[in-house]
Amino acid sequence: MKAFVYREYGTPDVLKLEEVQKPSPKDDEILVKVRAVSLNKADAYFLKGEPFMLRFEAGLKRPQRTILGADTSGIVEAVGKDVKQFKVGDDVFADLSVSGWGGLAEYASAKENAAVLKPANVSFEEAAAVPMAAVTALQGLRDNGKIQSGQKVLINGASGGVGTFAVQIAKSFGAEVTAVCSTKNVELVRALGADHVIDYTKENFTKNNKQYDLILGTNGYHPLTDYKGALTSKGVYVCTGGTMKQIFESMLLGMVVTLGTEKKMGNLLAKPSQDDLMLVKKLIEDGKIKSVIEKSYPFEKTPDAFRQLEKGHASGKIVVSF
Ligand SMILES: NC(=O)c1ccc[n+]([C@@H]2O[C@H](COP(=O)([O-])OP(=O)(O)OC[C@H]3O[C@@H](n4cnc5c(N)ncnc54)[C@H](OP(=O)(O)O)[C@@H]3O)[C@@H](O)[C@H]2O)c1
Repeated sequence: MKAFVYREYGTPDVLKLEEVQKPSPKDDEILVKVRAVSLNKADAYFLKGEPFMLRFEAGLKRPQRTILGADTSGIVEAVGKDVKQFKVGDDVFADLSVSGWGGLAEYASAKENAAVLKPANVSFEEAAAVPMAAVTALQGLRDNGKIQSGQKVLINGASGGVGTFAVQIAKSFGAEVTAVCSTKNVELVRALGADHVIDYTKENFTKNNKQYDLILGTNGYHPLTDYKGALTSKGVYVCTGGTMKQIFESMLLGMVVTLGTEKKMGNLLAKPSQDDLMLVKKLIEDGKIKSVIEKSYPFEKTPDAFRQLEKGHASGKIVVSF
């Protein structure tokens, strides 16, 4: 089968289209004929081998897993002998980050419990755009953020992969949502249901004397003390991404900065979850959330898709389709 393989860390130029062995599914796996893959920041980090600490998992000198691509949709081609939830011919979507990655290939194997039947009301591209970004948004808002109906919730970085789902998921919980994005994305996030929009090129939300019960930070940077000032007395700030400085500050200093207050600040490392992917599927089927796709690239143009991902300004998701 054809696959985009990388044997050294580097720029998208190290991705090579090669003929490789088709995977055979283990007993608890399904083999998927891949129809679409969406790229996540994690794909870009593993391609570059940066931040360096991820090499302890991915391979110190060179990548041990040579095919990237986690968020995948496709058609079940074969099933392992212990598989109970799927049969040949089912349309599925999955987060392969728990199955050894490998979506950027004609076929990929997935643990049975990493996959869910694709919602019938969306395309393969739209389905592939969902898993990691939507589950991260859900876990950030629900698990770390303890989101409640009627709360004032702010999403910083509302126009990206995680942010576009976060706006819609927060609305589905009944929150009053403020979305922070740049000028070009104001209408997009409004259309996704944001009640208020702050254009970060014109206004700094941490300096306008407004406070929020929950802030989900997916992109950009603000000092922790500024986030603290933008929280209500029992407010919660959940960092899911952004600059490395933002991520490490929230991870290491969140508890220190909020000492003596009822505010909470911390970092989320999302965990792939079949239950959560099923919940997201239901939200899609009920018309409560939908994928936003900046651009879909043909498989052969995968390196160009990575080049765009690296720029960091996609509105929604970047997809590769077969
Ligand atoms: N915690 C986890 O487990 C987990 C899981 C998935 C992702 N993540 C992380 O979450 C972050 C977001 O991922 P993503 O997939 O949403 O990224 P993404 O799609 O690449 O984000 C692109 C978006 O970010 C916006 N943006 C860039 N700079 C900004 C700023 N200063 N303020 C506000 N928005 C800004 C861009 O809008 P403009 O063009 O308008 O600037 C663009 O719409 C990444 O750091 C990723 O690594 C974490």
